[in-house]
Amino acid sequence: MDKLIIRGGNRLSGTIPISGAKNAALTLIPCALLTEEALTLRNLPRLADIDGFQHLMTQFGVSHTIPGKRPEEFGRNVTLEAMRITSSVAPYDLVRKMRASILVLGPLLARTGEATVSLPGGCAIGNRPIDLHLKVLEAFGAHIELAQGYVKASAPDGGLPGGEFDFPVVSVGATENALMAAVLCKGTSRLVNAAREPEIVDLCNLLTAMGAEIEGVGTSELTIHGVSKLHGATYRVMPDRIEAGSYACAAAITGGEVRLEGAEAGDMGSTLHALRNIGVEIESDKHGINVAANGPLKAHNLTTAPFPGLATDMQAQLMSLLTRAEGTSVLKETIFENRFMHVPELARMGADIETEGRTAIVRGPTRLTGAEVMATDLRASMSLVIAGLAAEGATTVRRLYHLDRGYERLEEKLQLVGADVERVGDD
Ligand code: UD1
Repeated sequence: MDKLIIRGGNRLSGTIPISGAKNAALTLIPCALLTEEALTLRNLPRLADIDGFQHLMTQFGVSHTIPGKRPEEFGRNVTLEAMRITSSVAPYDLVRKMRASILVLGPLLARTGEATVSLPGGCAIGNRPIDLHLKVLEAFGAHIELAQGYVKASAPDGGLPGGEFDFPVVSVGATENALMAAVLCKGTSRLVNAAREPEIVDLCNLLTAMGAEIEGVGTSELTIHGVSKLHGATYRVMPDRIEAGSYACAAAITGGEVRLEGAEAGDMGSTLHALRNIGVEIESDKHGINVAANGPLKAHNLTTAPFPGLATDMQAQLMSLLTRAEGTSVLKETIFENRFMHVPELARMGADIETEGRTAIVRGPTRLTGAEVMATDLRASMSLVIAGLAAEGATTVRRLYHLDRGYERLEEKLQLVGADVERVGDD
């Protein structure tokens, strides 16, 4: 297993290209199940999770072709074609490795009238139920059974009628599953209190390009008029706002000055607002965002919330940054119940952080020192990398597979801006 060695103290400077968004890609890929025509996705990030999801799609008879691209380039284009669905079963072995596999439930059900998907099982950042995914499909007329660890969903003869659902909790994944089912329902469906993350907008834009009829895109109330058939499309995946936000924190913690090429400021309002309050200068244009941390960093209180609130996926990285800020910051995590696993590791690097339930109190600025650390999820791992960039001495981050799930060629991108980072095989 590889590990990352970071020798802290270098001020980051230069340009980092931002990849296509992992979380958008994970909902755009299953859209291939909705049509017998070819779907070409451009700018897919080259990540373990994306490869895993493409592999899962072959299970249903989806072919994929990858036109040649030079290995040194970031991203890739992939054409997916589901002329015939040969199986509508997503087995445990494939699903357990990747929670997002549940996103095949809606499109498989809508296209074939049935879907059998393994329950995803536990997850490091909390319980993460899928009850809302099932309830919204039931509201559209699906029959759902749970047996032997599988969800078995079926539609009445002639297809799902469609219906209304008011989400008691905002759920990104359940909104995505609902949208991918509703577009092929016989009637009109309405979603209230739907998630409106930029990745949901990206999904709606792709579905619209495939011939779907969706009203209210970008709001929490979506009306979907079902159509009998969707067609193929070519679509470019949106830039990864979490990757961009992570590198903004990395630049800021080193007092650096970095351009995030391809990042979209319009998708990152709360993160950029938080960074400005912490004392980071942000300028954006049509093609990217410039981040500069020339002055002292200031403490700032943060609360995660569904979009347009602060993304829970940015909490850990901002916490690392705040360990170097002057004063006391209070961070509240409202989305997941167990998302402070980076705290004990940051403490081993010298951070002064106290947690109480879903609140963390960060006292700064603290001197960070390199240590051997490891994290149990993707964004927590990134927070340790960020801390390592500002720490004295070497930091070794283990369990690199977490980072490989979500950051395309992380060490290369950090090296581009002058970080001393190296990937080495584990002993
Ligand atoms: C997605 C993102 C993840 C991000 C999260 C919140 C992907 C692949 N992952 O995850 O990176 O951190 O959104 O922005 O896009 N909930 C229920 N019942 C359900 C579904 C969710 O109670 O059926 C709860 C969850 O436990 C959580 C909250 O709703 O407390 C939000 O979760 P959700 O938005 O569904 O997260 P994911 O789609 O899994």
